[in-house]
Amino acid sequence: MTDVRDIALSYAHQNRDRFLADLRELLFIPSISTSDEYKAETLRAALWVSDRLRGMGIQNVEVMPTGGHPVVYGEWLKRPGAPTVLIYGHYDVQPPDPLDLWETPPFEPTVRGDLLFARGASDMKGQVMAVLHAVEAALKTGQMPVNVKFLIEGEEEIGSENLGAFIKKHAKKLKADVCINTDAGMIGADEPTIVYGLRGLAYMELRVYGPAKDLHSGLFGGAVHNPAQALTELVAGMHDKNGRVTLPGFYKKVRKVSEQERRAFKKLPTSKKFFLEQTGVPALWGEAEYAPNERVGARPTLEVNGLLSGWTAPGSKTVIPAYAMAKISCRLVPGQTPEETIKQMRAYLKAKAPKTIRWELIELHHAGAAITDLESPGVKALAAGLQAVWGKRPLFMREGGSIGAVVQLQEYAGVESVLTGFGLPEDNVHSPNERLHLPTWYKGIDALIHFLFNMR
Ligand code: BES
Ligand code: MN
Repeated sequence: MTDVRDIALSYAHQNRDRFLADLRELLFIPSISTSDEYKAETLRAALWVSDRLRGMGIQNVEVMPTGGHPVVYGEWLKRPGAPTVLIYGHYDVQPPDPLDLWETPPFEPTVRGDLLFARGASDMKGQVMAVLHAVEAALKTGQMPVNVKFLIEGEEEIGSENLGAFIKKHAKKLKADVCINTDAGMIGADEPTIVYGLRGLAYMELRVYGPAKDLHSGLFGGAVHNPAQALTELVAGMHDKNGRVTLPGFYKKVRKVSEQERRAFKKLPTSKKFFLEQTGVPALWGEAEYAPNERVGARPTLEVNGLLSGWTAPGSKTVIPAYAMAKISCRLVPGQTPEETIKQMRAYLKAKAPKTIRWELIELHHAGAAITDLESPGVKALAAGLQAVWGKRPLFMREGGSIGAVVQLQEYAGVESVLTGFGLPEDNVHSPNERLHLPTWYKGIDALIHFLFNMR
């Protein structure tokens, strides 16, 4: 006898070409949430997703306003008594810059061999469409095993700033037994992964002002403190020679990495060699007493995300800039909060900034660090689903990225997330030539179909 699950799986297999065509449609829309210029396009992506949900039979689909980009909501609740799965996703993407490094334009999705190239292909329009397609396949059987709700936001890549208030306001509507979140990725194409920890984020902009206007560096060099120099001196002082962050109190509340967790990190295939190969750096860097995967997954860090000052165009100009700016973000682990981290940064600047300049610190956005419940009903269902498709047990790991919604859903709606994804480390997320490995994506759709039926 054929199981309904097999009917759903064969529907998914037969529709692979259309699934891909569908994903490409969404990838054509440049929904760059950080740029005001792309506000209309970002809305267009929300509308596209809402149309798609309606088209597959999801009910009460709404594009709901927030303080920023809207949330797409929808539900299918016709299985009273069965569990309810909340499906999280984001339709926004990171800016595609630097554009000249793309082999094909970022918003003209192109298949080359097994890979689909486009901004958002992996992070995470591909992942959003994987879940939509899995639900579509399950619905088509006429024996949908669970209830589902969709929460597809448009501000993940800018810290999910308005999502917290949205979840608070609609906590009842979003109530679910578990949330499936495919924004976390996997270690390798043959390593299905369940992520149970994410780092938080505190994003800041440090502005340093010197002279009232740019100065001739010959006439004034030696008489004034160059803001570019003062800024980089401050930035350089944010780490000590052992790679530790020097903001006062930064490590005070950091949750220790337990011996058990350290053993688990050691067993993962993310060795030193993995990090060297993935990044192309000549040598690794960071706290020597921790392995690279521990430093990424379970230790807090501080990164300079951008620097701006003075003359940077081709050719030369002898100038002392009036102004210098750094974008700086800290990845946080449980115990730390973005608010306290910002205070520590202010304390550092108050203590270290010289009298020769003025400074200003702007807070950009935050996300909380998360550890998710490995006992939640979704974890077993997903682990079994991954095993059914890959033929091996998934790895469990803590990841270094951040997803604001995970803590917000825990805190404001009491919903635990199961984190996974079918993006690979080599997908160039947030970089030029972002890509999706299609064979892995198709497997992911199958695993999600299993997940839905395992939840029953
Ligand atoms: N998909 C990533 C987060 C991620 C990456 C989780 C790898 C686990 C493993 C997500 O879209 C992302 O990039 N988030 C931002 C959030 C930030 C702006 C608050 C990030 O981590 O930089
Ligand atoms: Mn993402």
